[in-house]
Amino acid sequence: MNEPSAWGRRPFLYVVVCACGVAADVGRLITAAQERGWDVGVVATPQGLGFLDAAAVEAQTGYPVRSAWRAPGDPRPLPPADAIAVAPASFNTVNKWAAGISDTLALGVLCEAYGMGVPTAVLPYLNAAQAAHPAYRRSVDQLREMGVLIGSYEPHRPKAGGGADSFRWEEALDLLEPRLSARPSAGR
Ligand SMILES: Cc1cc2nc3c(=O)[nH]c(=O)nc-3n(C[C@H](O)[C@H](O)[C@H](O)COP(=O)(O)O)c2cc1C
Repeated sequence: MNEPSAWGRRPFLYVVVCACGVAADVGRLITAAQERGWDVGVVATPQGLGFLDAAAVEAQTGYPVRSAWRAPGDPRPLPPADAIAVAPASFNTVNKWAAGISDTLALGVLCEAYGMGVPTAVLPYLNAAQAAHPAYRRSVDQLREMGVLIGSYEPHRPKAGGGADSFRWEEALDLLEPRLSARPSAGR
């Protein structure tokens, strides 16, 4: 549990949501995070936006769902992130992130997080045919080298309807919380 008193405020979690079958259930991670002491804002990929109920997420978090870059001079809609959970993470976004591609807001946030030292966990949700692509293994290895915490979901069988039942949303919090408590709160 992240007590507000340890930070002077509740730590702020960005949940980056990609266009994966389970994305509609992201409310489960938001609820769990809020119960564990986080405030939460959601950044969806442009494709991911179509996979979730943005109005429901906004009602739950109290923040707009971000997907596009703001205009220059506009205020930042979300506070800075203390940690980031990429959940669910698509094959596409994992590969682009590892390669340093930044053509969506979500990827821009993720690519900068490394240099900013923001603790980041990724819960890929993909099938075994996608995971078999050599680029995917290289991407996961690259992200691990960058200090990204990797979820344990075993890719499901292709065309089998997915594995939503075994996707552990809370694993993102389990991975991030030890990193967060190691970070000083001063000056943030
Ligand atoms: C109904 C549907 C379900 C999908 N589920 C997944 C998925 O679970 N994992 C995945 O990696 N891609 C999935 N895809 C493919 C991605 O949506 C596609 O690669 C997309 O470009 C990812 O965009 P993003 O990485 O910007 O979110 C799905 C596509 C559709 C139409």
